[in-house]
Amino acid sequence: MQSLAAQLVPKAVEKLVPYQSARRIGGQGHLWLNANELEQSAHYGDFQQGSNDHYNRYPDFLPHDTAQAYLEYCQQSVGKLDCEAVAVRGADEAIDLLIRTFCHPGKDQIIICPPTYGMYEFCADSFSVNTCKIPLLADFQLDVEQIKEQLPNSPLLFLCSPNNPTGNSIHEADIVTLLEASKDSTLVVVDEAYIEFSSQQSALCLMNKYPHLVVIRTLSKAFGLAAIRCGFLLADSSVMTYINRLIAPYPIADPTAEIALKALSNTGLELMQKQTNQLIQVREWFKSQLMLLDSVQHVFGSETNFVLIRFKGHLETYQHLIKKGIVTRDQAHEPALQDCVRISIGSKESMLETLNALKTLN
Ligand SMILES: Cc1ncc(COP(=O)(O)O)c(C=O)c1O
Repeated sequence: MQSLAAQLVPKAVEKLVPYQSARRIGGQGHLWLNANELEQSAHYGDFQQGSNDHYNRYPDFLPHDTAQAYLEYCQQSVGKLDCEAVAVRGADEAIDLLIRTFCHPGKDQIIICPPTYGMYEFCADSFSVNTCKIPLLADFQLDVEQIKEQLPNSPLLFLCSPNNPTGNSIHEADIVTLLEASKDSTLVVVDEAYIEFSSQQSALCLMNKYPHLVVIRTLSKAFGLAAIRCGFLLADSSVMTYINRLIAPYPIADPTAEIALKALSNTGLELMQKQTNQLIQVREWFKSQLMLLDSVQHVFGSETNFVLIRFKGHLETYQHLIKKGIVTRDQAHEPALQDCVRISIGSKESMLETLNALKTLN
């Protein structure tokens, strides 16, 4: 029987032959004159010291060792996975790739549950794909029944857990219900950019049972590597076949792959875990201090590296912080987030400075 991915994929993508870059074609020899590269590496400064000194050559067409290292990292927490992983230029590229691979422009719609991460709608818009919005309920959980109604018309459902900007995780039972209901119609994408900060287990646990589940991850958050632009898409091989047709010829730059591999080593993972634990402690302390302030109406629970706060007069607060040189994120444009500001968690010193600034607000 045809996989769901094979049923959904537009004809144009199905017919695509992946771009045959020189690295993908490969070969054997001692003179590599096939990719219009310079034969010798040029040195432009100290930044190349200690690196592998091969920047004259194109990188791997897909850095398998980086993707494999990420898969192994995931398997440490959820056990053996039957899926594949691919490294991409940040989770943002994964979102874009999924929409371009599985949606017919001008015809299909994706489902999102606002308030949520803005790139799902942006990527859909940029590819002339409609966005069906099923708002989160008052407790920021999914409106499962409303989503179910839209599944037959939608090749992709984007869920963000823990969710940005609300900070909460989606109930696993709701994800399972939607996975059951979408088997014949919709790929369910769970964006887990903030999963390391969460106490809830990853949706990856469901991957072996549901081949139409796709999980997106990133090194930009808990790993603290936003500048290298490295994310991962994890999915069944039936989904990955089509992603691999569309992916850019050299999606990951060598310096990125090198840094990512170090981050995913045992030492790297230990460091990430230690930093994550510290951040969670600072987050909980910051929340407890916020609740003591007169200007604060509500502090939402957070399973991420930020907190969402409802202020009494958020604009005044937001602008007051700006005047003090503290830049936060105004969320009041979201109908459900009136008077809300999102504050990322930094060091204890930074959060203390923020609290002190808030205390001087009259
Ligand atoms: C939910 C969510 N997904 C994806 C991303 C983008 O991650 P990346 O830096 O890997 O592109 C973000 C960034 O803020 C995010 O909040």
